[in-house]
Amino acid sequence: MSTDTETTGQKDTAPKHDQHSTAYDHLWMHFTRMSSYEHAPVPTIVRGEGVHIYDDRGRRYLDGLAGLFVVQAGHGRAELAEAAAKQAQELAFFPVWSYAHPKAVELAERLAHLAPGDLNKVFFTTGGGEAVETAWKLAKQYHRLMGRPGRHKVISRAVAYHGTPHGALSITGLPALRAPFEPLVPGAHKVPNTNLYRAPVHGDDPEAFGRWAADRIEEQILFEGPDTVAAVFLEPVQNAGGCFPPPPGYFRRVREICDTYDVLLVSDEVICAFGRLGTTFGCEKFGYVPDIITCAKGMTSGYSPIGAAIVSDRVAEPFYRGDTTFLHGYTFGGHPVSAAVALANLDLFDREGLNQHVLDHEAAFLGTLSRLHDLPIVGDVRGNGFFYGIELVKDKATKETFTPEECERLLYGLVSKKLFENGLYCRADDRGDPVVQLAPPLIAGQDVFDEIEQILRHVLTEAWAAI
Ligand SMILES: Cc1ncc(COP(=O)(O)O)c(C=O)c1O
Repeated sequence: MSTDTETTGQKDTAPKHDQHSTAYDHLWMHFTRMSSYEHAPVPTIVRGEGVHIYDDRGRRYLDGLAGLFVVQAGHGRAELAEAAAKQAQELAFFPVWSYAHPKAVELAERLAHLAPGDLNKVFFTTGGGEAVETAWKLAKQYHRLMGRPGRHKVISRAVAYHGTPHGALSITGLPALRAPFEPLVPGAHKVPNTNLYRAPVHGDDPEAFGRWAADRIEEQILFEGPDTVAAVFLEPVQNAGGCFPPPPGYFRRVREICDTYDVLLVSDEVICAFGRLGTTFGCEKFGYVPDIITCAKGMTSGYSPIGAAIVSDRVAEPFYRGDTTFLHGYTFGGHPVSAAVALANLDLFDREGLNQHVLDHEAAFLGTLSRLHDLPIVGDVRGNGFFYGIELVKDKATKETFTPEECERLLYGLVSKKLFENGLYCRADDRGDPVVQLAPPLIAGQDVFDEIEQILRHVLTEAWAAI
């Protein structure tokens, strides 16, 4: 379908009027099976307003995923756009390499103030994967500076997604995503996650299951040798696999294990920070203090990209001595426009009480989605805050899941497409067992929960009949 002229080698730069085929020809979409758009239109979103997005045909959709767990404050917020414009006029760009600019300083101070414990040092990135990459490199150099050069390994959980740079991908526990890029960074080991629905032991006792799952981390540290382990990377609520909240006591035990063996605890909050769970940081919701928080997405509600590793004074301390430098950085890390937008976004959070809104409505959201339990295809509804996964099963009684072929037909062929056709943008995901994921903007209320439930009910009923 390419229109490049083969004879002259010159490109056909004439504007095309069929945006769908232009998208297929030139826009390499991320994590996208491009062939599926060879003969089908590429859905093209042109505008957003509140909890809704609009496509180029003028159709309206409920944004059931806040873009990609990003648009916390909702679409079309003029004040965030204005903050960006104002900053771009004043100082569009300057790096934070040996120099500062006011918005980066102000945002770092604000994040330090909001973060728990002594997490007071903010290293900016442009997104989540870079924040995870930063945290691993930082953990390695930290241990070197502390005279423990052997500590380079990291532990994370099965099925967890932590980003695409080689380090972050190594931490990611999804074999299918890793396979094309092997060999990855050595020393990244996996332990079981907190999927209570499919708990191999203690399925009827969340606390005992949490203890069991946390103890797998200790087991792995001992197996590898504590002197070789630098850090543990965990999300407060694991996204991939479909929203696994931590069982009671899980993080208390994890913190204890990390302290015992001098291993850093990294809370990967790329999704869970900035109100997704009703608190500024996810660790707050579950009462633990990590050594590093990695965050991104919701910091600006998506109006401009930025990420960060927020680091404890204890871990930062050796880097602030003598001639030591953390030899790491990104040109656009802490971008002035993004920093200005993040500050305006945090003001908006405060003024509108977005965290409290999530806390006040999370039970209603879960309750509304839980009505779907009467459908034969719905095995589990789980999550926290405004962050839920609905696991689809073939047999509710036995929890039997779908075969890969059925998943392909069910998720890609039916559910994803039909949800969108019926006006709900969200995500049907098969990185673990098949789930539909829901994470609307944090301004959503009962009317939105009801609409989500009704569309899901209609589409999942159709899918069950067709499978
Ligand atoms: C927990 C977690 N970590 C890291 C990332 C990577 O973030 P980014 O896509 O901004 O690089 C993601 C992305 O979804 C994530 O969910």
